[in-house]
Amino acid sequence: MPARSASAPLTAAEARVLGDRAQTLLDELASVTDTPGQVNRTYLSPAHARAIDLVGAWMRERGMATTVDAVATLRGRREADITPETAPTLLVGSHIDTVIDAGKLDGCLGVIAGILAIEEIEARGERLPFAVEILAFGDEEGVRFPTALSSSSAVTGTYRREWLEVRDRKGVSLGEALAAFGCDASAIEAARIDPAGVVGWLEIHIEQGPLLEHWNMPLGVVTSIAGQSRFTFSLDGVAGHAGTVPMDLRHDALTGLAEIALTVERVGRQGTNGLVATVGRVDVKPGAGNTVPGRIEATLDIRAGADAPRLVAIDRIRYEAERIADRRGLRFELTRHIDVPTCPMDEALQAAFARSVGSLGLDVRLLPSGAGHDAMAMARSFPAAMLFVRSKDGISHNPKEWSSPEDIGLGVEALTRTILDLAKGRGT
Ligand code: GLV
Ligand code: MN
Ligand code: MN
Repeated sequence: MPARSASAPLTAAEARVLGDRAQTLLDELASVTDTPGQVNRTYLSPAHARAIDLVGAWMRERGMATTVDAVATLRGRREADITPETAPTLLVGSHIDTVIDAGKLDGCLGVIAGILAIEEIEARGERLPFAVEILAFGDEEGVRFPTALSSSSAVTGTYRREWLEVRDRKGVSLGEALAAFGCDASAIEAARIDPAGVVGWLEIHIEQGPLLEHWNMPLGVVTSIAGQSRFTFSLDGVAGHAGTVPMDLRHDALTGLAEIALTVERVGRQGTNGLVATVGRVDVKPGAGNTVPGRIEATLDIRAGADAPRLVAIDRIRYEAERIADRRGLRFELTRHIDVPTCPMDEALQAAFARSVGSLGLDVRLLPSGAGHDAMAMARSFPAAMLFVRSKDGISHNPKEWSSPEDIGLGVEALTRTILDLAKGRGT
């Protein structure tokens, strides 16, 4: 293939060829699942281990040296071409864990785009004044354990050791799951990357929303990421015989949950700055058709584009849930697992992404992210920026998640050009 100009727009055919290469890898990664027929790859599952093997092999085939850190983040490193002993590192990537019954793109695109950007840089004979390390995180979604972003938090030295005690639905603690996966939790501090040697963090991701499609634009530069708080909560009532306990003597945990879920929805609807509040998972105990539910365990996820509306909503939901529980003779307990403030992206890296998008002959669109991303944790230590690729119908966390090969190809090329742009800024 002839070397591609770093400043000319791609033809649709060129974008498609690059996008098809990415799609081939995305399809293969999507076949690595814990549930045949669905894409299910939660943190530290057997499929996660197989995904590390597969993606690690792709990295090694392209000349990268691979390691897996103490929280199962796969790292693929390409050393700098110029003064490698003292060169800084550019971090690139996203996550390879998925939600339940996921699409193929969320997270995986950012890792695969990074791998293909390295392949492009090699093919074009470019020389870099920094190492590039591609990070494939394992705990972005927070589906198996209530700890989203824990693997990227380890990289920034903000891992909370109490997370090791949280348990999945089968009662396995995160610490136990790490040990069974072959990870050494006593080495989590060593997973931290010193910010002094880091150029920044670049993450390509599908938009997971409708704005780029509405604007008819394939790519957009992210300005900030909505803050998010995640909780688990429980309601304890009294389990009893569905045939003998009269309605007015029941302490039914599930009907209490129903009232709380409607309160969560109402508070979400009344909020500002894109406030959203979700009860996403409910476990009913003991879970028998002929037994009044004695206990529920559920999740609560609250986000907004500014911190104040999110914090006010949390206080309101807690207050109202306690009143509902009191009135129904239930015990309500709320546990906060994650609290990440609204996170602006680095302006210099946003500008670098914008230059690359502009060089492709595209209008530069700026947009905020309502979804959470590893970039939120990475921004605690490093300049961090994200580029979004248009999502069909804005659909995500759904097997229908889709972006066209042309859009994916443009995303890979924009990432490649951004890496080269940063290299040029450092004097290559
Ligand atoms: C991750 O996808 C999140 O925003 O929950
Ligand atoms: Mn994601
Ligand atoms: Mn996701």
